[in-house]
Amino acid sequence: MQYRTLGKTGLNVSEIGYGGGRVRPEHDEISLVNMLHHAMDSGLNYFDTAPDYGGGYSETIIGKAIAGRRKSCIVATKTEAYDPDGIAIDVEGSLQRLGTDYIDVLQFHGGWFYAEDTERILNGGGLAAYLKLKQEGKVRFIGFSADGPSGGIEQFIATGEFDMMQIHYNLMYQSTCDAFGRRGIIPDAVAQEMGIVLMRSTTSNAFQNLMKHCFPNEMADVDVDSFLLNYSLSNPMVNVALMSLQRIDDVDWTNAVSDNVDARLDLQAIHGR
Ligand SMILES: NC(=O)c1ccc[n+]([C@@H]2O[C@H](COP(=O)([O-])OP(=O)(O)OC[C@H]3O[C@@H](n4cnc5c(N)ncnc54)[C@H](OP(=O)(O)O)[C@@H]3O)[C@@H](O)[C@H]2O)c1
Repeated sequence: MQYRTLGKTGLNVSEIGYGGGRVRPEHDEISLVNMLHHAMDSGLNYFDTAPDYGGGYSETIIGKAIAGRRKSCIVATKTEAYDPDGIAIDVEGSLQRLGTDYIDVLQFHGGWFYAEDTERILNGGGLAAYLKLKQEGKVRFIGFSADGPSGGIEQFIATGEFDMMQIHYNLMYQSTCDAFGRRGIIPDAVAQEMGIVLMRSTTSNAFQNLMKHCFPNEMADVDVDSFLLNYSLSNPMVNVALMSLQRIDDVDWTNAVSDNVDARLDLQAIHGR
C-alpha cells in the first residue's frame, strides 16, 4: 500500500480508502469485519461512511472493525443534516455506532449543494456547528462530499475553513480537474491546501457496464477495474481513492494496483495532444 498526505490535515493516508456506501443490513457482518481487518493488516487506514449508508449498518460494521485498533484508523463520516440541531443529532448517532469518542473527518453529505443547502451551511449555522465540534475535539477535520462542481462548492472552498473535499473524478468524469491540474474544483481546493478524496474512483461500474454492453465477448479477459483505479491514482492531486471493497480479493487487487507505481499514467501526455 502506498501513502499520501491528506492536504493540510497532515494525515498520512493510504491511497486506497474503504468506502462503506454500498453496505446493506443483509450483508454478513462477520465477513465484512474480517475483510476490513484484512484491509487494515494490508495497510489501509482510511474509512469513509455516513449515517445514511445501510440505515447506520455501515457505521456499525466499521465500529466493530476498528474496535481495539482505533488509533491507527482514520474514520470519515458525514452528516445528512446541514443545520446545527440536526448536525448534533447525526454526530451523536455516528459516535455511538462507530464506538468512538471522536471522528477524524466530518463531511457535509452531498449532493450538488443547491442554493438553499449552501445558505443553510454558510449562513444558517451549519459551518459554525462543524467548527464548534472541531474546537470541542469531537471532530478533528472538516469537509464535504459532492457529486460535481457547483456554485455552492466554490463558496465552501473560498471560505478557507474546510480541510478536505470528497469529490467525483475518474476516467469518464473529468469536469472537476483538467489533465494539467490547473482548472476545476480539485485544483481550486488544492490551492487552499485541502485534501482530495475520490468517490466513484472506478466510475461506479458505469464504464465497465458500457464496455461489456459494447464488447460482450472481448471484455471477459480485460482487467478494466485495475486500469480505472490506476487512472485515478495517476492524478497527483488525488490523496485517497475510495473503493467499496466487498471481498478479501478486492483488498488484494486494489493493493496490487497501489503498489504497481511503475504503471502510473502520464495524464498530461494522454490528454494534452
Ligand atoms: N455523495 C457521496 O458522499 C458519495 C457518493 C458516492 C460514493 N461515495 C463514497 O465512495 C465510495 C465508493 O463508491 P463508488 O460508487 O465508487 O463504488 P465502487 O467502489 O465503484 O463500487 C461500485 C459498486 O456499487 C454498485 N453501485 C454503483 N452505483 C450504485 C448505486 N447507485 N446504488 C447501488 N449500488 C451501486 C455497483 O454495482 P453494479 O454492478 O450494479 O453496477 C458496484 O458493485 C462509497 O462507498 C462511498 O463511501 C460517496
